[in-house]
Amino acid sequence: MRAIVVRKFAATPEVAEMPVPEPGPRAVRVQLEAAGVNPYDQKMADGILDGVLPHDFPMILGIDGAGIISSVGPEVSRFAVGDRVVGKFLTPPAGHGSFAEYSVLPEDATLVRIPDAIPSIAAAALPTAGGTAQDLVDAAKIEPDHTVLIVGATGGVGSFLVQLANTAGAHVIATARGEAADRMTRLGAAETVDYSAGPLRAQLAAAYPDGIDILFDLVSSPEALADLTGLVHDGGIVYSTVGAVDEDRLRARDMRGGNLQSSGRAPELARLLGRVADGDVVVPIDATIPLTEGLSVIGATGARGKTVLTI
Ligand SMILES: NC(=O)c1ccc[n+]([C@@H]2O[C@H](COP(=O)([O-])OP(=O)(O)OC[C@H]3O[C@@H](n4cnc5c(N)ncnc54)[C@H](OP(=O)(O)O)[C@@H]3O)[C@@H](O)[C@H]2O)c1
Repeated sequence: MRAIVVRKFAATPEVAEMPVPEPGPRAVRVQLEAAGVNPYDQKMADGILDGVLPHDFPMILGIDGAGIISSVGPEVSRFAVGDRVVGKFLTPPAGHGSFAEYSVLPEDATLVRIPDAIPSIAAAALPTAGGTAQDLVDAAKIEPDHTVLIVGATGGVGSFLVQLANTAGAHVIATARGEAADRMTRLGAAETVDYSAGPLRAQLAAAYPDGIDILFDLVSSPEALADLTGLVHDGGIVYSTVGAVDEDRLRARDMRGGNLQSSGRAPELARLLGRVADGDVVVPIDATIPLTEGLSVIGATGARGKTVLTI
């Protein structure tokens, strides 16, 4: 089967021929139809989980994937051949990801059936980015009329987060450069702010003299986030998805939040699929690209929503 692999940490990804995996006890094999691309794919290729999880090489990249169960191992009780499923293809040992024609997952991993109304391409875009956005909104406990600034709003997580925060009743301020602003408005942003036009703090401080309530930051360095936190009033909420929050400094100002690690388990994924099936959340797909042409999008910057590989 064809797959996108790296042969060692920090190697350049390549398309390679790999053996079709066989499911062992309590595991299923998925014939993948689509795989969502995330910044974490490049981080894994670079070795972010080296020493955290065992890895097999060549390491097949890709976490998010959707497809049809083509084989089940002994003692599988939750799934059957033919089920259309979406999940996170990251269980130990790492290296058996979703950028492949087939992958095997334990049946108790993050793996759920896809409602008929949702195409596999849309489902594959959900687990990491949509799940993280849902986790952020749940953790912050947004209340109607909260003012929420989303930094990095135009990418995968942000394009879900703008929608979910708006649905929760917040006044959403989204960062966006140039033509991306219109898309943010359509997804539910009340205001957009162009971070390339000058420091965000300077652009927003005058409009919010009492401070904003919640900052969700998906991109900033610790130094940049410390500066932006000055926009949030004492007692407010700040979350980073890139580990940039200094939690001691937050507590000193009686603030909530911290560095979020998305749990991304099956019940949350099923809830998100339900919201998409009900039409409450739009899956923001920017581009679909065949697997064999996917090397150029791994680790790419400047995302406008989600990129999905078709398999
Ligand atoms: N902790 C967790 O559990 C968790 C879960 C999911 C994701 N993450 C991490 O969260 C980050 C975001 O993920 P993602 O999937 O949304 O990434 P993404 O799809 O690549 O989106 C990032 C977006 O940020 C914009 N951006 C870049 N620099 C910016 C700046 N200085 N100010 C405002 N916007 C900026 C980019 O567009 P422009 O450059 O064109 O402006 C892009 O649209 C990644 O580092 C990812 O690994 C963590």
